[in-house]
Amino acid sequence: MYNITLIPGDGIGPEVADAAKNVVEATGLEVKWDIVNAGLTVYEETGVLVPDKVFKSIEKNKVALKGPITTPVGSGFRSINVMLRKKYNLFSNVRPIRTIPGINTPFKNIDLVIFRENTEGLYSGIEKKSSEDSAEAIKLTTKDASIRIVKEAFSYAEKNNKTKVTIVHKANIMKLTDGLFLDCAREISKNYPNIDLEEVIVDNMCMQLVMNPSQFQVIVTTNLYGDILSDLCAGLVGGLGLVPGANIGNDLAIFEAVHGSAPDIAGKNLANPTAIILSAAMMLNHLGEKEKSNFIVDAVLKTIDEGKFVTRDLGGSASTNDMTNAIIEKLLSL
Ligand code: NAI
Ligand code: MG
Repeated sequence: MYNITLIPGDGIGPEVADAAKNVVEATGLEVKWDIVNAGLTVYEETGVLVPDKVFKSIEKNKVALKGPITTPVGSGFRSINVMLRKKYNLFSNVRPIRTIPGINTPFKNIDLVIFRENTEGLYSGIEKKSSEDSAEAIKLTTKDASIRIVKEAFSYAEKNNKTKVTIVHKANIMKLTDGLFLDCAREISKNYPNIDLEEVIVDNMCMQLVMNPSQFQVIVTTNLYGDILSDLCAGLVGGLGLVPGANIGNDLAIFEAVHGSAPDIAGKNLANPTAIILSAAMMLNHLGEKEKSNFIVDAVLKTIDEGKFVTRDLGGSASTNDMTNAIIEKLLSL
């Protein structure tokens, strides 16, 4: 029996979070879900963005599955997501991006993982107005945080027989901040003689990714570049509805899709539940439930490949519920 915190979130969050909960339960895993919400919906109801019980639940259970959250402007927070990642030191944001059979894209064999530094850089939240007509933000970069994310990337590469880690930076311009990040990568890479360190400047990286994405295996980068490159990579494999993610710290982890709350399609039963379902599969893997995790991934991939019950973003006409039910049926037949 696992105790897991479930944060439905805003917009399409509740719809896709419910889908993921049902799929996890269909594996037969016994889960006691502690459902607590944060974000715009809760704020409108109670005037509080993140009720105390959300923190308590995450701290008690150590594992959470989270839907996307909208942070209202003027609420005193820049972003609840960024706050949670910093508060719990969830320093590693892991986003696997793979070609999904059955989805028509120009690329056939993309298989890469982005490791995004998740606690500092331009998302440090140190930003102020410096005069009536100017504002400034601090791009905080520390050796500790840089080293630990690079280590995550290399250690993943080693465990998964990858031969190359690509560090993405802009140290030619930001010599001290990105320069430090790059130096840390060079230093750590010396401990992994069988894995090449490839250094690519972020603008060139964007071009390389859209022209020949299958040349990359493991990407490690700073907070802002990682945020942007993950959406770019999502576009290469069929869109934001497909890409899962994990925020991992030393003793706590929060799993969530790469996408946001998609207000344009919220409440209409149109959202693709794949990204959060695959995030739930990553969560089961993290809990040591490899087999059940693989079942979920298999069921999702087969459902998409058959193409009968896929949502609009994938060219189909199924609702969120239809697609979820098809995935569950497939899972039960495996
Ligand atoms: P978004 O990711 O919500 O949407 C971008 C586009 O992708 C939209 O056209 C949307 O309909 C589509 N899309 C996203 N997820 C989809 C899914 N599962 N199925 C089908 N289509 C999908 O990005 P946007 O519009 O920039 O942000 C909306 C809100 O979400 C903002 O308030 C933002 O701050 C928040 N956000 C929250 C995140 C989180 O909680 N981790 C991450 C990213 C954004
Ligand atoms: Mg993002």
